[in-house]
Amino acid sequence: MAHPYHGLNELREMFLSYFESKGHLRLPSFSLIPPANDKSLLLINSGMAPMKTWFTGEEEPPRHRVCTCQKCIRTGDIENIGKTDRHGTYFEMLGNFSFGDYFKKEAIPFCWEFLTKVVGLEEDRLYPSIYLDDDEAFEIWNKDIGIPAERIFRFGKEDNFWEHGSGPCGPCSEVYYDRGPEHGCGKPGCTVGCDCDRYIEVWNNVFSQFDNDGQGNYSELKQKNIDTGMGLERLACVCQNVNSLFDVDTVMNITNKVSEITGAHYGESHAKDVSLRVITDHIRSAVFMICDGVLPSNEGRGYVLRRLLRRAARHGKLLGINHAFLYEVVDTVIHENECAYPDLREKQAYITKVIRTEEENFARTIDGGMKIYDEMLAAHKAAGETVFSGADAFKLYDTYGFPVDLTVEMAQEAGMSVDRDGFDKMMEEQRVRARKAREALGDLGWAGIEFGKEMPATTFLGYDHDEAQGKVLAIVAEGELRDEVAAGAEATLVLDQTPFYAEMGGQVADHGVIRCDGGVLEVKDVQKNKGGKFLHSGLVTEGVLKVGDTVTATIDTERRKAIRRSHSATHLLDAALKKVLGDHVHQAGSLVEPDRLRFDFTHFEAITPEQLTEIDRLVNDAILEGYSVVTEELPIDEAKAKGAVAVFGEKYGETVRVVEMGDFSMELCGGTHLDNTAKAGTFRIKSEGSIASGVRRIEATVGKLSLEVMNHNQELLFRAAQVFKTSPGELAAKAEQQAAELKSTRQALEKFKAEASLGEARQFLTAAKDVGGLKVLTVHRDGMDAGALRQMGDFLRDKEAGVVAVLSSVNGGKITFLAVCGKEAVARGVKAGDLVKTVCAVCGGKGGGKPDSAMGGGSDLLKLDDALAAVDDFVAEKLGI
Ligand code: ALA
Repeated sequence: MAHPYHGLNELREMFLSYFESKGHLRLPSFSLIPPANDKSLLLINSGMAPMKTWFTGEEEPPRHRVCTCQKCIRTGDIENIGKTDRHGTYFEMLGNFSFGDYFKKEAIPFCWEFLTKVVGLEEDRLYPSIYLDDDEAFEIWNKDIGIPAERIFRFGKEDNFWEHGSGPCGPCSEVYYDRGPEHGCGKPGCTVGCDCDRYIEVWNNVFSQFDNDGQGNYSELKQKNIDTGMGLERLACVCQNVNSLFDVDTVMNITNKVSEITGAHYGESHAKDVSLRVITDHIRSAVFMICDGVLPSNEGRGYVLRRLLRRAARHGKLLGINHAFLYEVVDTVIHENECAYPDLREKQAYITKVIRTEEENFARTIDGGMKIYDEMLAAHKAAGETVFSGADAFKLYDTYGFPVDLTVEMAQEAGMSVDRDGFDKMMEEQRVRARKAREALGDLGWAGIEFGKEMPATTFLGYDHDEAQGKVLAIVAEGELRDEVAAGAEATLVLDQTPFYAEMGGQVADHGVIRCDGGVLEVKDVQKNKGGKFLHSGLVTEGVLKVGDTVTATIDTERRKAIRRSHSATHLLDAALKKVLGDHVHQAGSLVEPDRLRFDFTHFEAITPEQLTEIDRLVNDAILEGYSVVTEELPIDEAKAKGAVAVFGEKYGETVRVVEMGDFSMELCGGTHLDNTAKAGTFRIKSEGSIASGVRRIEATVGKLSLEVMNHNQELLFRAAQVFKTSPGELAAKAEQQAAELKSTRQALEKFKAEASLGEARQFLTAAKDVGGLKVLTVHRDGMDAGALRQMGDFLRDKEAGVVAVLSSVNGGKITFLAVCGKEAVARGVKAGDLVKTVCAVCGGKGGGKPDSAMGGGSDLLKLDDALAAVDDFVAEKLGI
């Protein structure tokens, strides 16, 4: 090999530190999951993809020069991956980027210096290519770098205009590496650009200056950018003088692990090579995807992951492995990559668990599925058909979890194709069926999940219990029904009975934990769907939870107590409002949170401070009264006849729950309440105002939060009293007295300052310079405002008829000039207006005014002395001296 060997991890570091030394900010790889606002991609597929808004200028980058090594996945051609040794789904892309900073003239020399000086590739093995008419790039390669014209290749849009779907794009200049004639096809005309293995592209400089709207319309970007990309594995192939990505050091170590498990080795047969490559490539992608938060599912990214894992699992089978084994390779993948991606190690247990679960799920059906597949294949063959039907492919997918491209691949191996259109049609029909079923169940509108008709509604036990046993009826994760979920997953559990209150009627959901043997879900939200099932959502923090498990569900009791306080206080507030404002008050909305509430109600004019005080007093009195809170279930008619307040426009069932607080309040309500109003503690109105015409809102606190607010206010009061060296009771009087004192002290000070400056002005006059009989003087003093300047100027002008004075002061980085001229000076043609204009101009500003007094400003502080020095000349010129 004619150049030094570099390992893959070493090359990554060489690249990033080289560009750091060129002023680039090194950022870690972005997640494989594209930013939420980019709907054009399922997975990140190039270095620039996560930064599109920095290229377009929509968002400001952290620096205008950035370099990264970005994890990428491209699955366009998944069926063929492994069949050749050229492509993989997972790769890393090195890139240096300029967002409106440098352009071609710097980017090309950076690229050249890195390849030849840092990596040490021989110059005469490298060939640049440019876009057809990009003479600018040609000149740089030819003149600046010194590449002879005949070694620079011009290619068309196909090769040298880079774009990927919609977004920033532009002409590009690539660099090819000549691996030597022994790798060539030997055909006449084999040169740079030939499809064979001799000349391989190592670097792509995209001069990113257009935006493609996705429909093929290009507009010029606001700024010119540089987007470069270099496949890390590709560069490693060159530096390690190997034929394929699978021979690169770190990748080879993964294959070796796969060989160790399967007993199959490279070179034994083409079929084994294919399987080893598929497993090696797919496990790399899968580990990184799971680490970034993708989970196997039947949709979107999750489906890409499922396809990769199932395809790899099947190739394991082809190598004779009949049990889950991919998860055993995870440790090696992490070992090879952790120096650049330390989060892999942190999530190792989780990644391993996800892969193993998916493998085991697939293993349960694959054998049955393979048998059915063989029968289907035989039937098609017997009928003399060459196309495997879409219906059969769908059955394998639906019943046995065979990703369709797996079926396509197996059919291909048997010399058949698959009717993809037929398959897609059946998929669509299934989607429609599922939606209808959900509509019938009334479950539509939540995550699109069907729980099935048999599943009963959840029984709510939370009026009387903070903890209860229940059974897990269903688990949802990633929008799909699951049999189990493991630590690390966001999941939703449906229980047959629960103490958790689901968000309803303005009252927020309970928080808490659901536990079984070793498994823990931390519940952060609870919703009730139309089918009456309680959906407990949160994070699985430990172990595994399974459908059918008996669990203990425990709510956060302290939080629930605070919610009870707010809810009962809300009823008291509603009743107090009716008593003070009138019966037209109806609840228009409410939010009941721990110790804090918001109540919206109908009322058509402003509430007076007296009314507000009265409302506050009534609620607090009702709390102190200690009314028992009694709830009972009654037929709706009976409840209404008793006078229970219903929420306007709310639909109620046959039986309703009535919540009564002494003779103060009676409402229909499903919420959770105190057993005695006294437990609400102190009620304090925080704000009152109008939110829409005829609707007003009161916000208030109760319980511990009210106490906290009061404590805080008290502390402030004590602190202020301390500052004034008095007691809280005396504070107001003391503060008033001191404010008055401060005012008169200030006035005295101003007067004193004015007098002092007039005294000074007298001195200035005696020191004035005689120019043609006039007394010329300049004074500079920082921190004088316009008023003070004027006062001094007026004094000088009135005191001395022959005075010509310029006073200046600097305030907040700006200069203020005042020019005054006494009567005699004005009579002799020296005018303050002209003078100030001249002076200001020296400092880059403007000014003007009357002949005897004029003001102006300037900003160039360095010219201040020159400006003042110009005064003498101005006077002399006017006097004709
Ligand atoms: N974005 C360019 C590429 O992916 C650099 O090749």
